[in-house]
Amino acid sequence: MFLLKNKNYIIQPLKCLLVSKTCRCYSDSVRLVSMKNKLKNGPGLKNFIESSTHPIMVDRPYIPYLANVEYATKRKVYFDIYGCQMNLNDTEIVWSILQNEGFERTEVEDEADIFLVMTCAIREGAETKIWHRLDHLRGFKKRREVSKFKQRPVKIGILGCMAERLKEKLIEKEKAVDVVAGPDSYRDLPRLLALTDSGQTAVNVLLSLDETYADVVPVRLNQDSVSAFISIMRGCDNMCTYCIVPFTRGRERSRPVSSIVDEVRRLADQGVKEVTLLGQNVNSYRDITEHTVKHETKLAEGFKTVYKSKMGGLRFADLLDKVSSVDPEMRIRFTAAHPKDFPDEVLQVVAERANVCKLLHLPAQAGSSAVLQRMRRGYSRAAYLALVRRAAAAVPAVGLSTDMICGFCGETEEEFQETLSLLEIVDYNIAFLFPYSMREKTTAYRRYKDDVPEDVKKERHSRMLNVYRRKCQMLNEAEIGNTHLVLVEGSVKKTGQLMGRNELYIKVVFDQEEILTEDGGKRSVKPGDYVAVRIVSAKASVLSGIPLYHTGIREFYRHVSWADRGTARVPL
Ligand code: SAH
Ligand code: SF4
Ligand code: F3S
Repeated sequence: MFLLKNKNYIIQPLKCLLVSKTCRCYSDSVRLVSMKNKLKNGPGLKNFIESSTHPIMVDRPYIPYLANVEYATKRKVYFDIYGCQMNLNDTEIVWSILQNEGFERTEVEDEADIFLVMTCAIREGAETKIWHRLDHLRGFKKRREVSKFKQRPVKIGILGCMAERLKEKLIEKEKAVDVVAGPDSYRDLPRLLALTDSGQTAVNVLLSLDETYADVVPVRLNQDSVSAFISIMRGCDNMCTYCIVPFTRGRERSRPVSSIVDEVRRLADQGVKEVTLLGQNVNSYRDITEHTVKHETKLAEGFKTVYKSKMGGLRFADLLDKVSSVDPEMRIRFTAAHPKDFPDEVLQVVAERANVCKLLHLPAQAGSSAVLQRMRRGYSRAAYLALVRRAAAAVPAVGLSTDMICGFCGETEEEFQETLSLLEIVDYNIAFLFPYSMREKTTAYRRYKDDVPEDVKKERHSRMLNVYRRKCQMLNEAEIGNTHLVLVEGSVKKTGQLMGRNELYIKVVFDQEEILTEDGGKRSVKPGDYVAVRIVSAKASVLSGIPLYHTGIREFYRHVSWADRGTARVPL
């Protein structure tokens, strides 16, 4: 392909001038000269290892044998996204890379030429869902192959954590898959997709020590959304014994503060009103490209870590400070924060900044110290409760959320009771509750036995859910009569009511009404507005209210003190 497209290397048909028909001796000698020139001028080793710059992808390798391949003949990509918020943000990075290469996006299956499935491997259930989706896509691909309307063949790419976990096995198991790309190889996707044009399958599951996609500007999939996610770091070094993430996302690395702040500014300019900073453990964030005094991470009493604490650079408290200063009318959230290193400096920024939401995600995972130790979480029940108290003291009326697992290896009924009691003691506004799912490669897989029967896991899971729902109902009812600051997201399809979220990320619904504006006029409510809403009724997962007036973060908190809402959040 390279030879045909580059005029330097086109071999002309050779004719003998003397006898006006093809002459072997003449043509052979000319051919020899031509071949010598070709070798002299043609691509050398350096071309195969050379790098060329690219507008958004500085380190994209220059690959001569693909240099003239049209990566994308306006092919349409359809995204399927599974898993956590990080996967959503990763898809926006992928979309940015592909859009720059001329690909188009479609939300209509029938129009798609390429299906890219962003996968999750956290539990077996997550993977089962994806296998079902792949069954459907295989059928779609087959139908396209035998279709009498000469449509382009469909390609299927598997991206993300399940791609990283299963690697080539994915193609062996699911013959319809054309591309497998792990979380650190998205820059390579245009090349991988180009390879499939000639019927090959292509795999890149290399994990990186430094890839943060800091120079790729994510393109938001939902341009109308009032909120956005920003990955501030990738990977995880914690190695909790049950967790596959360190194996699918690799080592922890942080993205420079400057690129994060630039992105927040860009989003604010686009009218985005809320950003969530994402990392597996935001409290171990370190921008080591910034030289500062070497603050050592000091763990609070009762907490330990499996890796050596990082030194120097800007820490999460510094980042939070800078990000929340970009636009005082932009809400800032962050997740997840490992309880083992929650510094007072972060609590202080949360307490001081009106636009940093007062909801802390403190994933406990279990309530029993023995289970926590088997999970290698680095804290005991007592240390976790001490952190909850410290957070409540530093941030009055703080909201809390958590993740809990039941049925981990060797979990006895008594140990499980301790998880239930933690859910009773701590007032969690939001909790994600999971039955344990054994994952290959993890320490638990090698060291422990998945010995809690499935029906017991199921039963414990539903007991956790019951306690959680009862507590949520109680906490939400206590909000009746309070006025909340709600960022409006859109409307509820079924009822046509407006829907937004309060400071603690709880859904608040209310009827559309013309309400007072800050300048004394009146107007109806639209997505992106901040509205003061008086809560009038409560369910376990949603509050209903009456819209009172249009407002802003600074304006609202001038009149309503978050801490004085009268609800004790953490009665410990
Ligand atoms: N880094 C984040 C969480 C990432 S995974 C943190 O530490 O909080 C999200 C959640 O999935 C975890 O908090 C845990 O509760 C759950 N999880 C992880 N591995 C699991 C497994 N093997 N079985 C069941 N739940 C699991
Ligand atoms: Fe998994 Fe633990 Fe890392 Fe969270 S902190 S991603 S649970 S290993
Ligand atoms: Fe799933 Fe990977 Fe997120 S395993 S939860 S998509 S980090």
